[in-house]
Amino acid sequence: MNQNVAQSEGITMSGGGLYSLATVGAKHVIDAATPLVLNAIAELSDQRLEVGVTITDMGCADGGTSLSMIDAAIVAIRKRSSDTPITIVYADQPRNDFNALITNVHGLGPFDSWLSKHENVFPMASGTSFYRQILPDETVDIGFSATAMHWLSNKICNISKHVQAVGAEGEERRKFSDQAHSDWRQILMHRAKELHSGGKLVLINFCTDEQGRYLGNTGGVNMFDNFNRIWMSFLEQNKITQGEYENMTLPQYYNTVEEFSAPFSGEHEEVYNAGLRLDSIETRVVRCPFAVDFESHGDAEKFSRAYLPTIRSWNESIYFNGLSADRPHEERSRLIEDYYETYRKQVQSSPEGHGMDYVHAYTVISKINS
Ligand SMILES: C[S@@+](CC[C@H](N)C(=O)[O-])C[C@H]1O[C@@H](n2cnc3c(N)ncnc32)[C@H](O)[C@@H]1O
Repeated sequence: MNQNVAQSEGITMSGGGLYSLATVGAKHVIDAATPLVLNAIAELSDQRLEVGVTITDMGCADGGTSLSMIDAAIVAIRKRSSDTPITIVYADQPRNDFNALITNVHGLGPFDSWLSKHENVFPMASGTSFYRQILPDETVDIGFSATAMHWLSNKICNISKHVQAVGAEGEERRKFSDQAHSDWRQILMHRAKELHSGGKLVLINFCTDEQGRYLGNTGGVNMFDNFNRIWMSFLEQNKITQGEYENMTLPQYYNTVEEFSAPFSGEHEEVYNAGLRLDSIETRVVRCPFAVDFESHGDAEKFSRAYLPTIRSWNESIYFNGLSADRPHEERSRLIEDYYETYRKQVQSSPEGHGMDYVHAYTVISKINS
């Protein structure tokens, strides 16, 4: 197996359907992106629409957060064609909890699904990473992805004094940005093949915005600095080793608008030559729903207990695997509980400024008619 793909497959969101329950903020982000998907559908040619429409949701996790968006997309297609077949391809890396996905899409979980409301719509699941081609050449009309493509194909190195590239310096930072540069192009080249001419990509990705803001860093407590501080304190207390501390590096990168836009800048770029064009890119902040709720209920403990699961849903697997495999499983579990409880108690004792505001680039890309 390709080494790069193997790295990315080590990332898993909370399973058992917990992901979507814990991450209502990610649903707000997808809801905010839905008009872009509807515009993309409006721009599909009549000819394409009559043959059948294929939509992908890449990095779908358990599919719960995109159910409303997919429903709205189907309604928009149905307004243009009452019976054209519609295929929805849910794709994620192979270790994703696909049982939870199937449960949600088939309406057997906690959410209403679009499936029972529409005829001639076919959900499919693929365990193929977006670092590979997921579908055959020229078979996709709308490629969608939200909050997923910041996961790099490969952890190029450990960061010696932080847990995320936002806190990396010098050579370590350069290695991460180089990796992100080539990963973004690799993702786009695969999508260029899958898309029909005239097809669209709506890609909603974590970014570093024009004001230097990024996930969990919009003015209050810097969430990533806090992750780092707590692991650093565990190291100082000899709860973990230096090697384990360094293993906590998250294989992620938050591109700027310039970095996202560069592959479309002209014929010196293979993405451009493959026919992809950047229609629009804008950054937006979606407030952390748990911090917003806290502003009205004012109960710090309630806030801390609601907020921590959303953080945990996406970084627990990395941190757990960062602990030495020589430790018994229970010991690793205890350390992980200790870590999140330390964070939670901080939020409870001084809640002001905590929160995971989402900072995304909303990108629409076309494949030109050839
Ligand atoms: C934060 S979740 C986002 C889920 C959903 N799209 C949303 O916005 O709520 C990130 C998802 O990206 C997936 N992912 C990470 N690397 C991936 C890859 N190389 N290929 C496909 N999915 C990947 C993870 O497994 C996870 O399900």
